[in-house]
Amino acid sequence: MVVLGAGPAGLVLANILLDRGIDCVVLERAGRGDVRARARAGFLAAHTVRVLRQHGLAGGLDRHGRPHSTCEFRSEEGRFRLDYSGLGLGERHTVYPQQDLVADLLARFEERGGQIRFATEAVAVRHADTPRPEVEVREADGRPGLWRARYVAGCDGRHGAARRSLPPGTVRHHRDHGVTWLGLLAQAPPSLDAVGYAVHARGFAGHMARTSDITRYYLQCERGMPAHAWSPERIWDELDLRMRAREYGPLHRGPLVQRTVVTLESDVMEPLRHGALFLAGDAAGLISPSAAKGANLAVLEADLLARALIDDLTANDPGGLNAYSARGLTHIWRAQEFSHWMTALLHGPAGTDGESRFHNSLRRSRLTSLRTSRSHQDWFAEHYVGI
Ligand code: APR
Repeated sequence: MVVLGAGPAGLVLANILLDRGIDCVVLERAGRGDVRARARAGFLAAHTVRVLRQHGLAGGLDRHGRPHSTCEFRSEEGRFRLDYSGLGLGERHTVYPQQDLVADLLARFEERGGQIRFATEAVAVRHADTPRPEVEVREADGRPGLWRARYVAGCDGRHGAARRSLPPGTVRHHRDHGVTWLGLLAQAPPSLDAVGYAVHARGFAGHMARTSDITRYYLQCERGMPAHAWSPERIWDELDLRMRAREYGPLHRGPLVQRTVVTLESDVMEPLRHGALFLAGDAAGLISPSAAKGANLAVLEADLLARALIDDLTANDPGGLNAYSARGLTHIWRAQEFSHWMTALLHGPAGTDGESRFHNSLRRSRLTSLRTSRSHQDWFAEHYVGI
């Protein structure tokens, strides 16, 4: 088995397979240090934690992860909180930075004797329609190489070789939400004991805890704005304004240790299987980060694919592999639907024309419904933390 990509999808898949004695190699374009240092998501759904525990992959998150179950919405109409562990399915998130999870998964894979080739870029997957697919690679020293396997898992993200190797006829459903965020990591403790979503005429602002001294903030910005266009003072002033710090309490300021520009985009590749090539994680679909579903979907798909591969390779039962695409897509589309709803809840058109006013009034009404309707809150909780 060849797994492309050492992100959450590839490493969860490879760990589960190796644990069941299935020979697999992970090919990763980046170096070890880069893979471990990439700060990204951090909100793990209850299902994700269950999967990781079940496969002995939750040591680090059980020691250092923190339970989280509250979100706070702020807007011109005031603020309200939802404790979603008391709503819907009664589940909560565990906050554990994705780079720590990736480091744990790497360590576990290598402890078990797993083989991972860093600085090895997959260039193309060939002959996926035969029982002997090949992966053409560029090795760390720049020389070409070739890997053959029974199956190939494309867990190499949106710009990976798996997506580039799909046959004609693969459908890419795509949506650009027309929204851009400046994503910030601040070396400062969280400013509120909740995920903060601020809806403001100047644009969205968000607050998400990471650790006791690192906090993630998001600021909606103009499309095309360079990550370093604004000074730290301007960023903190803008966050104060949109988060309404004067009314609801100050934000803890600190050095901004990372800035990235995030274009809110979603896409889904269909189907997720092409003969011997399977897609999982970002390679299967991108999801706008509004509802923190990306890493959770990646783990869900990796688990689904691992079970199907184990049935096929150890019990000669191809049923799971045949059903993988349809099953994966059902979860992906439900997550897409909710993320799309969240994106529309948190961002409105900036204009003052009739259509913009109409959309913004709908958005206000959605927030009011979420503040006042218990059944709406149950629906929100089930989808927000569920996967
Ligand atoms: N060959 C080998 N490896 C590659 C190639 C390639 N051609 N292209 C990309 N990669 C590697 C990347 O360097 C990266 O380590 O594939 C890995 C993909 O990992 P992620 O981007 O983390 O994707 P995934 O495992 O699908 O996780 C998905 O986590 O934080 C979220 O936003 C993220 O939603 C995403 C989720």
